[in-house]
Amino acid sequence: MKKYLAKSKLKSVYVENNKAIKVFDKNYNKSDVLYEALNTARVEDAGVNIPKLLEVAVTDGKWSITSEYVEGPTLTQLIEKYPDKADDYIKKMVEYQISFQKKSNPLLLVLKDKMNRQINSIEQLDNSVKYELLTRLNSMKNHTKLCHGDYCPDNIIVSADAKGNIEEITAVDWVHATQGNASADIANTFLLLKLQFGDKSDIPEKYISTFCELTNTKRSYVNEWLPLVAAARLTKNKEEEKELLEQWINVVDFQ
Ligand SMILES: Nc1ncnc2c1ncn2[C@@H]1O[C@H](COP(=O)(O)OP(=O)(O)O)[C@@H](O)[C@H]1O
Ligand SMILES: [Mg+2]
Repeated sequence: MKKYLAKSKLKSVYVENNKAIKVFDKNYNKSDVLYEALNTARVEDAGVNIPKLLEVAVTDGKWSITSEYVEGPTLTQLIEKYPDKADDYIKKMVEYQISFQKKSNPLLLVLKDKMNRQINSIEQLDNSVKYELLTRLNSMKNHTKLCHGDYCPDNIIVSADAKGNIEEITAVDWVHATQGNASADIANTFLLLKLQFGDKSDIPEKYISTFCELTNTKRSYVNEWLPLVAAARLTKNKEEEKELLEQWINVVDFQ
């Protein structure tokens, strides 16, 4: 019996025989599917404990990626169920991120190269703003830490005890993984949390301050990445994100 975990126009994920099968729409770009599989394997090679990639296949003209199934709710579901425990969950989320940031794989794309391409390709940005963003990006330190690229509560799977305390944590959806600066990946997740929970939630702030505390990083250092990751995300062309992203891009003028 197939049990669906997620369904959208372009892809769906179901569980069968203890495996998670991600099926892509017929028109999905083949190289994007193969890239996702290869990138995920490279994260496994880096030594991160994630659900193992098992198979890439084509069935009825649709590409699919099969991996081990991890039982348990997503972090989004757990936060909804136990909102009072959000602080503890955010801490666990940060600790897991810090642990995979210690890993790396030289074969992953370099985050700064990817962001350079993304920011360059945005037509709606004023040339002077683009120039300012690219100048800042190129002045940022080069690092080779593993960055997830889409580290958000929907991509985090946990197991919790009867009281809602997290016992195990892992992440899926490593298609955007790169090697780069840890603070860039933190700034990216901060934006994702803002987009998910809204401006009034204290979750994004809690997240960023927990990271800074645990790693002795200056908040201003993470802040420098905010306009850059916001600009890079504009390339996704999501109408509902545009306003917030443009707000964060403009922060560049005030620093
Ligand atoms: N290996 C897995 N084990 C358990 N659940 C998974 C696994 N892979 C994906 N999922 C679930 O399916 C959802 C969608 O998969 P994901 O790879 O994140 O696709 P998308 O690219 O659509 O975000 C995830 O948020 C998670 O809930
Ligand atoms: Mg996902």
